[in-house]
Amino acid sequence: MSASVGFHLPPRAVSRLDTLVDGIEANPGPLLNPAALREASEDLDIRNAIEQLPDGMSLEDFVGILKLAMLTECATDSYSAVFQDGAERFDSPWLARFNERIWTPDEHTHYTPYKLMLQSLGYSEEELDREMREVQERNYEHCCGRSPVELTTYGIIQEYLTDNWHGMISTLLKPSAPYAAKCASMVKRRETLHTTWYREMTAIQVEENPEMLHLVADTVLTFQMPGTRLVPEFGSRSLEWMSKANVDFPRVARDFVRNFQQVAGTMKRAGQLFVELAARRSVKLGPMPLSAARRVLDRIGGPGYGLIGEALMDKFGIPRPTTESRTGPISLPPRMYEAFRARVRGMIIQRIETAAIIGEV
Ligand SMILES: [Fe+2]
Ligand SMILES: [Fe+2]
Repeated sequence: MSASVGFHLPPRAVSRLDTLVDGIEANPGPLLNPAALREASEDLDIRNAIEQLPDGMSLEDFVGILKLAMLTECATDSYSAVFQDGAERFDSPWLARFNERIWTPDEHTHYTPYKLMLQSLGYSEEELDREMREVQERNYEHCCGRSPVELTTYGIIQEYLTDNWHGMISTLLKPSAPYAAKCASMVKRRETLHTTWYREMTAIQVEENPEMLHLVADTVLTFQMPGTRLVPEFGSRSLEWMSKANVDFPRVARDFVRNFQQVAGTMKRAGQLFVELAARRSVKLGPMPLSAARRVLDRIGGPGYGLIGEALMDKFGIPRPTTESRTGPISLPPRMYEAFRARVRGMIIQRIETAAIIGEV
């Protein structure tokens, strides 16, 4: 766990975060209804899906995918305790309130459809309850720091990847078990909202204190999905299963960059964040380690990082805001600036691999 060194928010940030959580509390969106799901358990029969799995995906893979969803979701209280602890330690009632009143009760409903689907495949309720209890009793060690900005950054990545997982299940079920697919997609929609909320919380903290960007980077670098820690027998196979389910990895990378570009808030800060991530992953840019390129960029200042930010958006196919100022450093005539810009772009496009930014997905 990092020491969350330097976490600080000005009062304006706290008041904006309070207002954001007020808005979420006033309009949390439609929650799942576990009682209604249990009543519709016949429609959650997914036996037909077994015949229609993608080539290369076995029944064991498919059951593992569902169990990973159920077991990761059932351990909500373990993650919730970490957020509550961080909120209290860093005196952040806005985060405590969000965690306690919105996030935790919402997450408590997410395992239900998967338990019912697994029951339709012949797993007994007792057996599944026992497996869930075992996971709930395991000691959960959080991968990352506990200051609010680290927790909300962790939330973005965790929720985004979970959103993908439920989406993947929904796609697998759609042709053979439409109601089950719909339920998976309802869970997915909750995770989409959670991703958005954590992203907005993180963006406010960074906007009000840009130094927080380092804690964002710390979290991205040490992030691990809770499933890989609590349910390693399934969590360690998640990439293999995503490949077998034909998940579009470039889309995942693009979404990741887009989320963090929004967290950064400006092209300059997006460039700073991505250069810090790449440098700390020891990426080289040509013959020069990125840490050396960073020293040069620090001398050029904002415009240098802004160019990196722009180049990254282009590489990942993310539209850039056209309103942002594109003026070069005063010392460079416009034509030289354009040439410099084209070079930086070329370098990023050729040399920065997806993994340098987001790690191994
Ligand atoms: Fe969830
Ligand atoms: Fe969630």
